[in-house]
Amino acid sequence: MQFRVPKGTTDIVPDVAVKWQYLERKAVELFKTYGYKPIITPIFEHTEVFTRSIGSSTDIVQKEMYTFEDKGKRSLTLRPEGTAPVIRSYVEQNMNQLPQPVKLYYTGPMFRYERPQAGRYRQFWQIGVEAIGSDDPAVDAESILLLVNYFKAVGLKELTLYINSMGCENDRPQYIEMLKEYAEAKRESLCNDCVKRVDLNPLRLFDCKNETCQAVMADAPKLIDHLCESCSGHFDEVKHYLEMQCVNYTIKPELVRGLDYYTKTTFEIVSPLLGAQNAIGGGGRYNKLVEEFGGPSTPGIGFALGTERLALAVEKEGVFDVNENSTEVFIAVADPAAKHAAVNILYQLRSNDISSDIDYMNRSLKAQLNAANRRGIRYFVFLGSRELEAGAVVVKDMEDGAQVEVKLNELVEHLTGLVGAAK
Ligand code: HAM
Repeated sequence: MQFRVPKGTTDIVPDVAVKWQYLERKAVELFKTYGYKPIITPIFEHTEVFTRSIGSSTDIVQKEMYTFEDKGKRSLTLRPEGTAPVIRSYVEQNMNQLPQPVKLYYTGPMFRYERPQAGRYRQFWQIGVEAIGSDDPAVDAESILLLVNYFKAVGLKELTLYINSMGCENDRPQYIEMLKEYAEAKRESLCNDCVKRVDLNPLRLFDCKNETCQAVMADAPKLIDHLCESCSGHFDEVKHYLEMQCVNYTIKPELVRGLDYYTKTTFEIVSPLLGAQNAIGGGGRYNKLVEEFGGPSTPGIGFALGTERLALAVEKEGVFDVNENSTEVFIAVADPAAKHAAVNILYQLRSNDISSDIDYMNRSLKAQLNAANRRGIRYFVFLGSRELEAGAVVVKDMEDGAQVEVKLNELVEHLTGLVGAAK
């Protein structure tokens, strides 16, 4: 009996995991430069954390949540995204007592019961940030620039940045009425889901993937044309900061994003290197969310990027240059009688921070060399009884074939020099 991973999930095999770790490390380095600190929240939360914040009429809440009852009859949900848990934690941990804004980042798996396809999974990983406590448009720009600069730092070149503003609670009611009126008149052309959306939450009409619905919505009134003075001034400031950093953007009035909590700025970055699922990252402002969770009125903004999509784009761009975790030194044992001494040397090298390995499969010398070559190990140390007697080993650089005899008591120093120079 062989098992397969559940539909929509994948194993991140070692060669890929190394690349992911590199991407994560680069993100963390940059986040630190921007003053963000890590936060780790549970993988599951009370279901209401998500229904309240993401919105009951969104696709995520309606169709995609992994919700279950635990043995204590609590309704719990595997997190479909990271913002709601972070805000729940901000309120629960009284982070409003800390110097504001509180700037946090997180990485980890998220869960959505979506139809799997290239770049869309049921368990996928996100790297996200949230800056909670300020409505300053410079923070909006910081969030967008952080995402843009991170993508640049990992070598992505061709990206499109879309931005939009969704206004505030004052702009919405009038606009929603207008949108409803427009959609009512087009009811006949809309899909069944969209017909329901007209009554439930007309803003969600912009989420539909159906081409006919999209064509209808292309001519719909747009929120960005109905912003109050304050929201439109806020958006102008955000654009100004982006222009100051020479960041190109496209205003996309349909960019309402699939979550109900957004207010004012929303943004998304897409890569032309990906197929249908081309959004590598997106985010926006959520000025009512802390209140929704019972905290004091507190604005916030953040983004999340999808690690699978990012890794795919970086791979396609051909800029992955990671050869980490690869072992640097292989101790080839030419004679079983030298095994004990070889293992001793192995631990000596490792305790001197030289990444090294040895054969554990009872292979012949030739087979040992083949296996080590396949692993891409650069330096080989040859050890047999003769070498032991002579108190010296042969060290060979597999890249240029150069080999030298090195005294056993000088081996650590010699290899430290070689490995250090190769780095
Ligand atoms: P989101 O747009 O739903 O936003 O997800 C962010 C990113 O996660 C997407 O751009 C995409 O790269 C990736 N992603 C989403 N769903 C999948 C999937 N099924 N398979 C693979 N990748 C996926 C959020 O989650 C918000 N919490 C972002 C945010 C943070 N807004 C404010 N702060």
